Amino acid sequence: MSNVLRTRFTEEFGVEHPIVQGGMQWVGRAELVAAVAEAGALGMITALTQPTPEDLAREIARCREMTDKPFGVNLTILPTITPPPYAEYRQAIIESGIGIVETAGSNPAEQVAAFKPAGVRVLHKCTSVRHALKAQQLGVDAVSIDGFECAGHPGEDDIPGLVLIPRAADELSIPIIASGGFADARGLVAALALGADGINMGTRFMCTTESPIHDAVKKRIAEASELETELIFRPLRNTARVASNSVSREVVAKLADGAAFDDVRELVAGARGRQVYEQGDPELGIWSAGMVQGLITDVPPVGELVERIVREAAELIRGRLGGLLGVAD
Ligand SMILES: Cc1cc2nc3c(=O)[nH]c(=O)nc-3n(C[C@H](O)[C@H](O)[C@H](O)COP(=O)(O)O)c2cc1C
Repeated sequence: MSNVLRTRFTEEFGVEHPIVQGGMQWVGRAELVAAVAEAGALGMITALTQPTPEDLAREIARCREMTDKPFGVNLTILPTITPPPYAEYRQAIIESGIGIVETAGSNPAEQVAAFKPAGVRVLHKCTSVRHALKAQQLGVDAVSIDGFECAGHPGEDDIPGLVLIPRAADELSIPIIASGGFADARGLVAALALGADGINMGTRFMCTTESPIHDAVKKRIAEASELETELIFRPLRNTARVASNSVSREVVAKLADGAAFDDVRELVAGARGRQVYEQGDPELGIWSAGMVQGLITDVPPVGELVERIVREAAELIRGRLGGLLGVAD
């Protein structure tokens, strides 16, 4: 019997399995993305990990040398004082012939206007039903909905996936990817039952053989429990879920005491977070990880992980769930 799960997402995006590897700053590089593509899932090169649009074009070319299968690019629009040259990054993506882009971080109007006429499919990631509806109205092809569990930016509504995903499924007509808290077959089957067309995983893919970060960080994720994350920047209404360590706890404490962003700027510097991945010391800075680390206990090759999730999902549907129906009399 086949273990292939067909959904609107796999059909419309031309991907074998309904599994996405979302954009990950410093992690979404060619090695990981190519492994995800080879496994039949959809990987995203993270545009802003590359210092310039030219570097992004080179990273896309490097990924193509490792796989013939399709992959996408994540372009995250961040609230910054000196924004990166987004239009030039978009141009590099379009000129590289990328067919799928994951947008995130803000209203995707500008992105849709640039990508859609160039024939690029847009998967917009957001954290609320109202933002998802807005994105649908703007013409995106699908949305990823990040629940409160997720690593990175969960928004300010604090609605977990168990409510957010079926709420989105009730309101939207385009395909939905459930995101935040997914790591295994149980999550995938649950997401499909809630009305999603696939799942997006960040922390789980970060903790794989091909993920280009230090092994000590992967070991830390595999050992950590679901309790070991912090929500930083809450008082600034720019919440981010990150791994709990001495730095993130200090940031939380200082902001709770009324400190301003400037007072924690040095602690949260992106360069410090990057050192965590490069040097393998989880205490060096702020780095993203989700509650789902409580479900992660190993560091498998990506191919093995995707095969395991899809096979066990099929077994779960045919076996335990099918069995619940009993025998008709
Ligand atoms: C290390 C790391 C870096 C991330 N960086 C980004 C990013 O740059 N842009 C983005 O849209 N999402 C980013 N995310 C969020 C993921 O794409 C995804 O939405 C999230 O990890 C899903 O939650 P999960 O970790 O529970 O699977 C990041 C997540 C992680 C773990």
